[in-house]
Amino acid sequence: MKIQIINGPNLNLLGVREPGVYGATSFDEYLKELKHIFPDTEIFYYQSNVEGEIINKIHETGFSFSGIVLNAGAYTHTSIAIHDAIKSVKTPVIEVHISNVHAREEFRRDSLLAAACKGTIAGFGMDSYRLAIEAVKQLTTTVNTVDTVGRT
Ligand code: DQA
Repeated sequence: MKIQIINGPNLNLLGVREPGVYGATSFDEYLKELKHIFPDTEIFYYQSNVEGEIINKIHETGFSFSGIVLNAGAYTHTSIAIHDAIKSVKTPVIEVHISNVHAREEFRRDSLLAAACKGTIAGFGMDSYRLAIEAVKQLTTTVNTVDTVGRT
């Protein structure tokens, strides 16, 4: 099973950036842990600060991978183009946030991506990524009948 993790703007600075909010671990360090937890899963990682590059990666992996775990950073709150990209592909996309966006500034409460995603995981620190991978695995192993909002 192939899973693509995509991190958006400023997430290259995890471990350095606002450690009180995002923790003291770099993503590269955490990625090693994730690969250890899921030895049978091919986990690919991509980070970009550029909106179009994130869209290109969604297009590139969105027809062949089992899942995309997307932390679009601040683009979550602004990007109709990423919303459209998620809707354009077949692979389920799980929206992820390290922090609890609902407990922070008002402008972080709205996601332009959530409605296009399979679901959202937020507020569990870096563990949000592991939970999202668990969700992708669950999606591919259970008989996926129509869910509560009619999305399959
Ligand atoms: C974030 C939350 C966003 O509001 C913020 O712009 C980020 C990180 C998170 O993981 O908690 O860059 O997506």
